[in-house]
Amino acid sequence: MRIVSGIQPTGNLHLGNYLGAIRQWVAMQNEAADQGAECLFFLADLHAITLFQTPQEMRDNVRGMAAALMAAGIDPAKSILFNQTRVPETTELTWLLMCVARIGWLNRMTQFKEKSGKNREGASAGLYTYPVLMAADVLLYNATHVPVGEDQKQHLELARDIAAKFNQDFGVELFTLPEPKIGATAARVMSLRDGTAKMSKSDPSDMARINLSDDDDTIAQKVKKAKSDAELLPATYAELAARPEARNLVGIYAALTDENPDAVCARFAGQGFGAFKPALAEVLVESLRPIRDRYNALRQDHAAIDAALEQGAIRARALAKPQLEAAQAAMGLFG
Ligand code: AMP
Ligand code: TRP
Repeated sequence: MRIVSGIQPTGNLHLGNYLGAIRQWVAMQNEAADQGAECLFFLADLHAITLFQTPQEMRDNVRGMAAALMAAGIDPAKSILFNQTRVPETTELTWLLMCVARIGWLNRMTQFKEKSGKNREGASAGLYTYPVLMAADVLLYNATHVPVGEDQKQHLELARDIAAKFNQDFGVELFTLPEPKIGATAARVMSLRDGTAKMSKSDPSDMARINLSDDDDTIAQKVKKAKSDAELLPATYAELAARPEARNLVGIYAALTDENPDAVCARFAGQGFGAFKPALAEVLVESLRPIRDRYNALRQDHAAIDAALEQGAIRARALAKPQLEAAQAAMGLFG
């Protein structure tokens, strides 16, 4: 079993990033350690530059995301933590896979359509070929399990298609077909101002999200001001289907306390948000405080972060080099 996943280093980390991605990685890391499985987690800086980033933003965001991962519990002694750029085998394999992937396959990718929007001709070629880079990220390490959000499922199916075609075309059993692992609870944390929009770093209103750097009072204020409704909480989560704000707040509570959302509903059934919100604020403050404190401390310690990433890259490259060479050999390019 080998677990591999990447996250784009983006600024302003929020509760959605934590519950949707980071926390799942920490849980997988700890389970994997018990089973002797290996985890590789990386900052997808090469994916981030498919949309323009200033160099200063890139530098800050790579360190910020590394600090957040470490603060949340990713342990560079247990997991291989690195940034993609520092494993050049990734981009070398990407080219080989680019010659295996078909244009028709890339044309079906919905994320490219969304991200390029009406300006498809003006999008970077990197944005279009982004899923091939992602395939290289996982095939380079023969990942068996890849924890991702729902939005990345199609990209992983493409990685499987590329792996299968490579193995078939060159008569080898080189690449393992990776299995996506989609997180269950709070896979999507919604905005505190609009229960139908995703909590996002780009929301102009800071009240819409809880940042990993928010202090206790700010968190409490944001929960207090969060949009809810005037109805009481029902006995089951299913009854919240048509109440997006209420559903989101209950979902956040359940995710943080690791409870079934039905159990949370049952406990608060018949009460209004006047009672539920203070309880949610307390759970949020208590869960996020230790992470924030470690994050704020680590954020200043560039040397510690850089050293951890450096070590991670050395370990990742040791795995990547023979795999790249095997792919080159299969294609007649090496050996
Ligand atoms: P982004 O900042 O949008 O690139 O997201 C970084 C990671 O956090 C990705 O794995 C996303 O799937 C996850 N993520 C971002 N926003 C949310 C959200 N509102 N709910 C759940 N996961 C999220
Ligand atoms: N594209 C992913 C995202 O935006 C990040 C990513 C890059 C990734 N390479 C990966 C995730 C490999 C899993 C495996 O969220």
